Amino acid sequence: MVEELDNAEDFIIRQARPGDLPVLVEFVTKLTLHVAGGTAQTLKEKERKKLKDVLSAAIKDDNKMVVVAEVPGAGLVGMGHIYIWVSQGIWEQAGEMEFRSGIIDDVWVEPEYRKMGVFSAMLRKLVAFAEDHKAYELILEYSFSNQEAEATWSRLGFTTTGVRAAAFTSAVRDALSRG
Ligand SMILES: CC(C)(COP(=O)(O)OP(=O)(O)OC[C@H]1O[C@@H](n2cnc3c(N)ncnc32)[C@H](O)[C@@H]1OP(=O)(O)O)[C@@H](O)C(=O)NCCC(=O)NCCS
Repeated sequence: MVEELDNAEDFIIRQARPGDLPVLVEFVTKLTLHVAGGTAQTLKEKERKKLKDVLSAAIKDDNKMVVVAEVPGAGLVGMGHIYIWVSQGIWEQAGEMEFRSGIIDDVWVEPEYRKMGVFSAMLRKLVAFAEDHKAYELILEYSFSNQEAEATWSRLGFTTTGVRAAAFTSAVRDALSRG
């Protein structure tokens, strides 16, 4: 049984450290399974290593931040990742304009610690990181079927700006053949 986390002092929000990597790999694996749905599966060893390397590089990159939530005595209970995406304006009239966005990814809070404000606390740190890097827009993706994410993001000020559609080629062929 998990104790309710009522106060900010009940958990610590901090940047991830190399020692956190094994748990972070577990979190991203759980997130991938959560998004994919279906039965539990085990990550291939070479994929685990690749994921660990990617997260390890992110921890060291000044343009990225991996944030974790830690409950004293229980260990890590959540993570979130942000990186700064820079693009140049494409219009002649806009001159040398540069656009900066904070891309949020790899968001996970352990099920028994959800709806206690853990992610909101991590998001404060992600927002501060974005603004420190002059990125005043945040972008993220979630599955249409992910109702928890939908509820959380809309509560936290995000609005849907696009929809990703997918289809098997057979379905598209069928649709085309219907004329
Ligand atoms: C989405 C997720 C990260 C939210 O984390 P969390 O720590 O539970 O979020 P918080 O407690 O900070 O909640 C933030 C707000 O969203 C609301 N919220 C969170 N989960 C909700 C749910 N399932 N239904 C309705 N509202 C919800 C909270 O009530 C809170 O609003 P409030 O401040 O008005 O009370 C967590 O549910 C999760 O890890 N889900 C699985 C992984 C996932 O879907 N990741 C996102 C992929 S993009």
